[in-house]
Amino acid sequence: MRCNNLILSWILNLISKEIASNALYINSAKEVWDKLKARFAQPDNVRVYHLQHQLGSIVQGTQSVSEYFTQLNAIWEELHNYRPLPFCSCGHCTCNALSAVGEVQQLDYVFKFLMGLNDTYDSIGGQIILINPTPSLDKTFSLVLQEERQRQTQTLIMPTPESSALAALHIQAKKRDKAEVTCFHCGKSGHIKEKCYRLTGFPPNFKFIKSKPGYGGNASSSTI
Ligand SMILES: *[C@@H]1O[C@H](CO)[C@@H](O)[C@H](O)[C@H]1NC(C)=O
Ligand SMILES: *[C@@H]1O[C@H](CO)[C@@H](O)[C@H](O)[C@H]1NC(C)=O
Repeated sequence: MRCNNLILSWILNLISKEIASNALYINSAKEVWDKLKARFAQPDNVRVYHLQHQLGSIVQGTQSVSEYFTQLNAIWEELHNYRPLPFCSCGHCTCNALSAVGEVQQLDYVFKFLMGLNDTYDSIGGQIILINPTPSLDKTFSLVLQEERQRQTQTLIMPTPESSALAALHIQAKKRDKAEVTCFHCGKSGHIKEKCYRLTGFPPNFKFIKSKPGYGGNASSSTI
């Protein structure tokens, strides 16, 4: 009796008031359950259609990666309820056909998730697709999330979104290369004789750094 009442109260609390009012006079939890099942458990194609439609229109836009993923997941989970993966009846649950269906579905989810990402994630999406085998949905999500976090820290340091660690390395390497050469004509570092403006002529928009033009310039002006 206690179990019956407990479960009955769970059911009545979870369903909408309109539906509950029809079931209020039934005392057996099982009877209420059977009634609800008979009435509502048919495959609800209208709802499935609606969910698929919603799924098609979900994109990240300006949302965070987590917000976008949560939205997708909510729909996928509800779709799962309506259309669960075929139950394995062959006795052992490592049945190949079943796991293949599951894998195909995972792959579809990964594609959907990547396709709906904001355009600024195109490159990481492309990289993930190239990984063989394609990572699971959760792994994909965590990779994109990492990228988002990395960008957030980068924009705190430098406001240019394309500045990646790689670009920074390139710049460093260039600077180093420049600093290592010395001009045999004017004796300053950072350029070679063939490119010395004092021999080839200064470009029209050339600006001297700090000091005035002239051979007696300071070392601080030697970046030409
Ligand atoms: C992608 O994200 C950027 C930055 O958050 C935003 O300005 C842009 O509008 C987004 N693109 C779309 C299609 O929503
Ligand atoms: C030139 O360099 C000397 C030290 O080498 C410094 O004291 C002086 O302020 C510099 N002048 C300019 C214009 O940078």
